[in-house]
Amino acid sequence: MFAYRGKTALVTGASAGIGAEFARALAARGSDVILVARSQERLRALADELARDFGVRAEVIAADLTRADAARDLYAEAEVRGLTVDLLINNAGFGTHGPFETLAPARDHAEVMLNVAAVVDLTHLFLPAMLKRGDGAVINVASTASFQPVPYMAVYGATKAFVLSFSEALWAECRGRGVRVLALCPGTTATEFFDVVGTQDAGRGDRRQAHPRAGGGHGAARAGARPALRCRRRGQLPAGADGAPGAAKCHGAGDGTHDAPAPGSVGHLATRLALPHSR
Ligand SMILES: NC(=O)c1ccc[n+]([C@@H]2O[C@H](COP(=O)([O-])OP(=O)(O)OC[C@H]3O[C@@H](n4cnc5c(N)ncnc54)[C@H](OP(=O)(O)O)[C@@H]3O)[C@@H](O)[C@H]2O)c1
Repeated sequence: MFAYRGKTALVTGASAGIGAEFARALAARGSDVILVARSQERLRALADELARDFGVRAEVIAADLTRADAARDLYAEAEVRGLTVDLLINNAGFGTHGPFETLAPARDHAEVMLNVAAVVDLTHLFLPAMLKRGDGAVINVASTASFQPVPYMAVYGATKAFVLSFSEALWAECRGRGVRVLALCPGTTATEFFDVVGTQDAGRGDRRQAHPRAGGGHGAARAGARPALRCRRRGQLPAGADGAPGAAKCHGAGDGTHDAPAPGSVGHLATRLALPHSR
């Protein structure tokens, strides 16, 4: 069982969407958090909210994780602040959409750096100490796009296939050593993701897109037609899915709190986040 109180979770991509909900869910369970993304102001606002609502320590480290040395700098900054990371959530990511030959190479390169390289680098930096302590967890946010090639989101789909494969292999390596490795595979979820992609088409797999033969990103998997989440773990159900307490509050598009978030909303996903069971 995983104890959250007194632990510290580092969440990448915590300024918005799924990462912000992870941070809220963790803080609600008593975990201190380190919030990482580029938007310092948004991170600061969330940190203030979590400290006020849950009484946890919430640190902000602004970082552009597409930079080659970003993970090392982030690790060094955590060291300087005396922070021990017990739970690493590699969530930051974005997608590109369109015929491959039309996409800007630099943008695709940045996508690989963020969705893949930063995940590997941060895991290299933080996992060894967890293994030494015999306690910790790594959660990597993959996608339903992990399960098959995704035409017109070829790079995105490949990065998410990498994340799932990497996570499952690490799960096996860490099994029985006190460290859990999970992959979260959400389907289409209403976040800023599609604003960044530049089209809502990326979320629709069940109809033809702007490109004559296009499927679509998160909706492309037939499994993705199921709402919210596929989670690959061994031996555990996602907390929340089994009614475990402490799931995230739902922060909708406005600032209201909703009891029954709509399927596909980030709040709906947040009620089913793949966090190890608390004790
Ligand atoms: N929404 C979906 O339908 C869906 C489905 C399956 C999987 N996912 C995955 O879920 C994860 C979170 O996405 P989301 O839907 O929550 O999207 P989102 O609302 O756009 O959030 C993305 C987060 O990543 C951060 N980020 C982006 N570029 C970054 C960079 N260069 N360095 C550091 N942080 C960066 C953003 O913050 P800043 O802009 O402040 O840096 C933001 O906090 C991604 O890995 C995505 O692939 C999403």
